[in-house]
Amino acid sequence: MQINLRPPKGGDEAELAILCGEMDYHSDASEVTARLLALSGRDDHMVLVATDAKDKPIAWVHAHLSFRLVAEVFAELGGLVVSAAHRGQGIGERLLVEAERWGKEQGVSIFRVRSNVVRERAHGFYLRAGYEQFKTSYVFQKMLS
Ligand SMILES: CC(C)(COP(=O)(O)OP(=O)(O)OC[C@H]1O[C@@H](n2cnc3c(N)ncnc32)[C@H](O)[C@@H]1OP(=O)(O)O)[C@@H](O)C(=O)NCCC(=O)NCCS
Repeated sequence: MQINLRPPKGGDEAELAILCGEMDYHSDASEVTARLLALSGRDDHMVLVATDAKDKPIAWVHAHLSFRLVAEVFAELGGLVVSAAHRGQGIGERLLVEAERWGKEQGVSIFRVRSNVVRERAHGFYLRAGYEQFKTSYVFQKMLS
């Protein structure tokens, strides 16, 4: 099957939203549109879409630079998802390699991935791609109302 990689474009939003749902981040097309708009033109973020032969999005990756006062800037995965029907064909690996290439182009030496403890298969995917688990964190959150 022919897979192409390209930046997102108008008309992709509904498919990208469905893919967000496959990562258990439920979004609708208008929310995805607003988020893409917020990221467009920012050179510290990259989004790449994998499409099938009909140019329909079947996977996407988002990476960005992370700035910390306590550490040197690094690249980080914001999200990576391949549609359930297309997993296990190397598409996730291709997108991850492109995200890493982008990170290198930004001049950073570290690419970091945070992955929920429940995503056990994804952990195997990252280990196979050369990543090592170097710490475990709790994530705290508070609603600002
Ligand atoms: C993790 C994910 C991006 C990998 O994409 P992919 O295109 O299937 O990956 P590749 O084909 O390059 O590599 C396949 C490997 O991915 C891993 N994998 C993780 N979840 C998988 C799944 N649901 N189905 C198939 N393979 C999966 C396996 O290690 C698999 O190797 P195996 O077939 O020897 O077990 C994809 O499975 C996915 O979108 N999962 C749901 C969302 C998710 O967990 N994203 C990561 C967030 S941190």
